Amino acid sequence: MIDYKQIIADKLSAPLDKAELSALITETADDSFGDYAFPCFKLARVMRKSPVQIAEELAAKFVTDDHIVKVQAVNGYLNFFVNRLELTWDIISDVIAARGRYGDSDMGKGKTVCIDYSSVNICKSFHIGHLSTTAIGSALYKIYSALGYNVVGINHLGDYGTQFGKMIVAFKLWGDQATAEKEGVKELQRLYVKFHQEEPNHPELTEQAREWFARIERGDPEAQQLFEFFKRVTLQEVKTIYDRLHVRFDSWNGESFFNDKMAEPLQMLRDKGLITESQGAQVVELGDYGMPPCLLVKSDGSSLYATRDIAAAIWRKQHYNFDKCLYVVAYQQNLHFKQFFKVLELAGCDWAKDLVHVAYGMVSLEDGAMSTRKGNVVLLKDVIDKAVSKANDIIADKNPDLDNRSDVAEQVGVGAVLFSALENSRIKDIVFSYDRILNFDGETAPYLQYTYARCNSILQKAPRTEGVSGDYRALDNAETLRLVKLIGSFPQAVRDAALKYEPSVISALLIDIAQAFNRFYIAHRVICDNPAHQIARLQVVDATASVLKRGLQLLGIGAPPQM
Ligand code: ARG
Repeated sequence: MIDYKQIIADKLSAPLDKAELSALITETADDSFGDYAFPCFKLARVMRKSPVQIAEELAAKFVTDDHIVKVQAVNGYLNFFVNRLELTWDIISDVIAARGRYGDSDMGKGKTVCIDYSSVNICKSFHIGHLSTTAIGSALYKIYSALGYNVVGINHLGDYGTQFGKMIVAFKLWGDQATAEKEGVKELQRLYVKFHQEEPNHPELTEQAREWFARIERGDPEAQQLFEFFKRVTLQEVKTIYDRLHVRFDSWNGESFFNDKMAEPLQMLRDKGLITESQGAQVVELGDYGMPPCLLVKSDGSSLYATRDIAAAIWRKQHYNFDKCLYVVAYQQNLHFKQFFKVLELAGCDWAKDLVHVAYGMVSLEDGAMSTRKGNVVLLKDVIDKAVSKANDIIADKNPDLDNRSDVAEQVGVGAVLFSALENSRIKDIVFSYDRILNFDGETAPYLQYTYARCNSILQKAPRTEGVSGDYRALDNAETLRLVKLIGSFPQAVRDAALKYEPSVISALLIDIAQAFNRFYIAHRVICDNPAHQIARLQVVDATASVLKRGLQLLGIGAPPQM
């Protein structure tokens, strides 16, 4: 793409170096004020003149050319108008040349990013609370891959803890294999809840659970086998959802994987004098950093969540030599991450600065329903099913003759659910509403998908025009310029999404592009009786389709060709 900022910087005769000048130049928000603006406030300090005066002097001296065709001084700013047909064609030809992968780059070449996301808990249901980590983590996976990074997706399974001792006791008393196979996690949850109901009246259960947990730890075959069974039942269920969401992982090493990998890190922390005893427990004091102590070994000798996360971080560094390791986990765990990152930093791991907690807000449903400990959770599967069924109704109504309607409804329903976790800055809490996320005219995934399908149908319907070349003057208007500029900002949005760990940068741009496309389409006939104009406008439609599709792909959302 033509670097207009550079061209302007090179031609400005101002007493700052070129890189500094170029960094000060911004794109204008309003095209009527030109395409790029240069504020003269910084120069005012260097040149000891008013910005207004400087702008006027610089404007008078600036020599326009084929790229920068006009310059205006307005209130201490220099506004530059570029050759807009050149800019338009430059962007469109880049998009077309990228063949569906506009925005991809090799900026991450040779670098590895680990992304710890979704990280489900064995024997626990996969509920609406897991939506954000799954959607955001998976989008980041795709975004980083597009930028050439080597990405390792990690599902840090919650597969360790005393609760598995309780599960075994409950299963042996009240459960059976066939029911668990058939009912899945729901049955495992039922058993777990029953254990807690019975425990107050049958104190011996507590002791039995402790005993079974110890047997798991010892690697006792029966305990191991039962645990593996619970794991299989849970993962089978979760994986059908991952398949529907097109989410993938490269590693399923969860908490239990680190059981035999904690001794060394603990010894290292001891050797560095970081560990102190506190009421029989071993902790790292973090009072100097305004945090409570990080508990690493309980008085009974057992390890904790943080111990395993420390071991996991060290193992990942050794194993993958990551440049960054992201943890896509709810903000409720802020303290946990701050603590163990700090412990690693204090231990002299200089790479601790590369650990990033990618925090996000809570999801609740409109009717107030939310996941609770009591087992009345809103399953992600039910949310997806309901969204798909509603999408199916809407499509049946809008386009009853559509081929493979159920396939399209699946993509629309799943897309709507994913987009609800990707549309806003991730730290915001989400209140989930089916009507809102499935509104085909709202700022939603179905709106993006619908706009994409519309582009496709225009491209398909257009009569062939052999032997005519495009007349790009048909693109010299405000609506096309706005649309094309937004398209041209897509590569930067992909980079920003990665650098800020914020897929919503892409979502927001896609909505802007779809809206700009719809304004373009209302204002200009694409299929028209001037074949030269038609060709030029079709290329804008083609570029729009291509970027919408790529953007949806990066968010993990399908783009059905027809809707
Ligand atoms: N399983 C945990 C939970 O549900 C999330 C694990 C996140 N990853 C990590 N390395 N701590 O809360």
